Amino acid sequence: MEHPIPQTMGQQFGRRSWAEPWKIKMVEPIKMIDRAGREKAMREAGYNTFLLRSEDVYIDLLTDSGTSAMSDRQWAGIMLGDEAYAGSRNFYRLEEAIQGYYGYPYVVPTHQGRGAEHLISQALIKPGHYVPGNMYFTTTRLHQELAGGTFVDVIINEAHDPSSLHPFKGNVDLDKLQALIDKVGASNIPYVSLAGTVNMAGGQPVSMANIRQLRELCDRYGIRIYLDATRMYENSLFIQEREHGYQQKTIAQILKEFCGYTDGAWMSAKKDNLVNIGGWLAVRDAELFDNLRNLVVIYEGLHTYGGMAGRDMEALAIGIAEGVEDDQVRARVGQVRYLGELLTDWGIPIVLPVGGHAIFLDARSFYPHIPQDQFPAQTLAAQLYLDSGVRSMERGVVSAGRDPATGEHRYPKLELTRLTIPRRVYTQAHMDVVAESVKAAYDNRLQTRGLVMVYEPQYLRFFQARFEPIQS
Ligand SMILES: Cc1ncc(COP(=O)(O)O)c(C=O)c1O
Repeated sequence: MEHPIPQTMGQQFGRRSWAEPWKIKMVEPIKMIDRAGREKAMREAGYNTFLLRSEDVYIDLLTDSGTSAMSDRQWAGIMLGDEAYAGSRNFYRLEEAIQGYYGYPYVVPTHQGRGAEHLISQALIKPGHYVPGNMYFTTTRLHQELAGGTFVDVIINEAHDPSSLHPFKGNVDLDKLQALIDKVGASNIPYVSLAGTVNMAGGQPVSMANIRQLRELCDRYGIRIYLDATRMYENSLFIQEREHGYQQKTIAQILKEFCGYTDGAWMSAKKDNLVNIGGWLAVRDAELFDNLRNLVVIYEGLHTYGGMAGRDMEALAIGIAEGVEDDQVRARVGQVRYLGELLTDWGIPIVLPVGGHAIFLDARSFYPHIPQDQFPAQTLAAQLYLDSGVRSMERGVVSAGRDPATGEHRYPKLELTRLTIPRRVYTQAHMDVVAESVKAAYDNRLQTRGLVMVYEPQYLRFFQARFEPIQS
């Protein structure tokens, strides 16, 4: 028998509203500083929103990573931490939750997502290997490169077009993957690096049909598929809404089926799993698990804590079960869409369709007069902060970094500024403030000038690079 999907009050009556399945019982004050204070803070931060102090930020949309509000049950779980060095009971609860919801038998805990990326890259990638994936992610690709691999983008072309309305812009282009296999040989491809949803494409999903076809192609060549499951709950909602045959399945059922086509997954639990810190890696292959369990003790911690406290693992086990509930995911994505609709109603260029975790402003269309080497998306992030204290993040040429072979900037087609919505943190009224601020920046766009980079760190430069405004 199919499970009935819990509906929001609005849905039960065919109405538009999507209100949250929780109420607020504790609040954290935030403050507003004036324009002069924001100008000073931005100058001191080198026009990089990562370098602002959070106390100087009014509405913080830098990231949805580790910024979720935990529930009363998760906080109660914090008090149940078993802080034994080895064999903490919270680890076994976590292991059971991952096995139950994601379906992988072998679990390795890590301190956060990139800890898991490091381990899987070290275990499987050898110098000279090629790692195909549905668009790069910053830390994922860097770990693949540090292990000696070369990332190859095999996402469908629509993903690089902010205005394409393709419902599954995260899909892998199987012809591109086939061409890579023909060119380099399957033995030089350790695995396909598949993300659901695709962060850098605007939080865009992968369809069930696509993962099924990908599995078939990979099986023909003995290539494994590892999944970046960071936002798979949101990906599963899009499948439920958009793919034939999934309307009557719960997010949990869709998740399990999707993961069933993959060989394992790594996870930044700081997103869908609703915790402030944590991550994991889970696989089906016992031999690989043995290797990963050996590596984790070098880089993260013992295989029953992997860098997390017992209490963190308890909150995570609870967050896994809570976050996958249909009404939670629907309210989360509903809030993102609400902000998107405010902006599109005003004709502001954003990546469409609106993705799962953020609104991505199309900085190229915003500032057609600012060339990409003057960092339009970084400029827009700085302008939003100056206008209203809203903190966003660059996802364009700065994030893309330099090509290790040529040392030149990589120029991605997408030059985006990301307004990322933390889960269960801000209200609809906060979204109104954000939308008005984006409109103000848009109205002022032709008076805005770009930036010059005055300091560039070697790795993941978007975190710490410094800029100055270009003077007229
Ligand atoms: C898609 C994706 N993969 C991996 C990571 C890395 O996870 P973490 O920040 O927990 O190291 C992130 C985090 O931003 C992400 O968005």
